[in-house]
Amino acid sequence: MRITEERRSSLVSILLLLFFFNTRHLQVMSCPLQTTNCTDQDRKLLEFPLNLEYLEAEFFLFGALGFGLDKVAPNLTMGGPKPIGAQIANLDRLTRDIVLQFAWQEVGHLRTVKGFARPLLDLSEKSFAKVMDYAFGRKFVPLFDPYANSYNYLIASYLVPYVGLTGYVGANPKLQCPASRKLFSDKNLKISKLYMFNVNYAKVLHLVAGLLGVESGQDAVIRTMLYARAKHIVHPYGVSVAAFTDRISDLKNKLGKMGVKDEGLVLPKAMGAEGQLAGNVLVGDKMSLAFDRTPEEILRIVYGSGNESVPGGFFPQVADGEIAKSYLD
Ligand SMILES: *[C@@H]1O[C@H](CO)[C@@H](O)[C@H](O)[C@H]1NC(C)=O
Ligand SMILES: *[C@@H]1O[C@H](CO)[C@@H](O)[C@H](O)[C@H]1NC(C)=O
Ligand SMILES: *[C@@H]1O[C@H](CO)[C@@H](O)[C@H](O)[C@H]1NC(C)=O
Repeated sequence: MRITEERRSSLVSILLLLFFFNTRHLQVMSCPLQTTNCTDQDRKLLEFPLNLEYLEAEFFLFGALGFGLDKVAPNLTMGGPKPIGAQIANLDRLTRDIVLQFAWQEVGHLRTVKGFARPLLDLSEKSFAKVMDYAFGRKFVPLFDPYANSYNYLIASYLVPYVGLTGYVGANPKLQCPASRKLFSDKNLKISKLYMFNVNYAKVLHLVAGLLGVESGQDAVIRTMLYARAKHIVHPYGVSVAAFTDRISDLKNKLGKMGVKDEGLVLPKAMGAEGQLAGNVLVGDKMSLAFDRTPEEILRIVYGSGNESVPGGFFPQVADGEIAKSYLD
């Protein structure tokens, strides 16, 4: 397994979780008893992850069931185009059971995070195969098929929830509206209500924490399932599961262009938690805190282009929302 100097220095990347958590987030949290309305920028930041929620919902629904939002919750697509190339995966019972649970969780998230219609998604075998070829710097023959079996599907799944996770961690500190200590839950809160700019930040924080919690849980389950099979050699490529995760994480770091925020399942011992172990079932920095990513970094990764202005990859047209669109001008 190839370990770069860069990885040594900064460690790991649980993508989705990190989007909303970091130290500035903690500062915001400590701001007492202040109620300020959310800003337009807050709304943009909060609608951005919707791109990833759509991506995950469709990938997991199709993988487990062979159909997606158009069948299970057509309203939630808001009329957006059908995904390209998504299909049912050839999964073992346990994997299908878990993927289906993830799928319905994503449907729940889509009921909460609103803002724009489903963007065009490319979930075809070709789209995933391209990422794998890029990650390994050679052409896999036959093409890497994410839907072929549970190993391939879990490896393909390794690409996505973590990215969303770091996005949530990264967005949090950027939110302008200060937190109120008066935490309360409003089951009817929708991010779309931010359009009215009079939502209490505590509610938003509560919502983001709720999304982050489940996204990071999904990432942890996927990583654990892969970790249990880390030494398995994926047929017919002669590459271990651990090596796949290592290369994919390296690629995400390369595309994100902000150092090491993603790590594979097995690391040099010095990079494991407290430098004690090589096993790396969860990604974390030196203090074992989740990494964060900005929307720009996430776009560079999910476009596969390393450039937030050059759509492609899973979003062949463009991701939606004002932040993503602002890079097309
Ligand atoms: C879906 O949209 C239709 C038409 O706008 C509406 O009548 C229906 O209640 C919606 N269903 C759900 C589950 O929201
Ligand atoms: C928040 O928005 C509400 C409704 O638009 C308004 O009445 C209130 O003054 C705003 N509060 C602040 C602190 O801007
Ligand atoms: C990203 O793509 C845009 C549009 O093609 C280009 O102008 C810009 O130079 C690229 N940025 C980098 C860092 O390559």
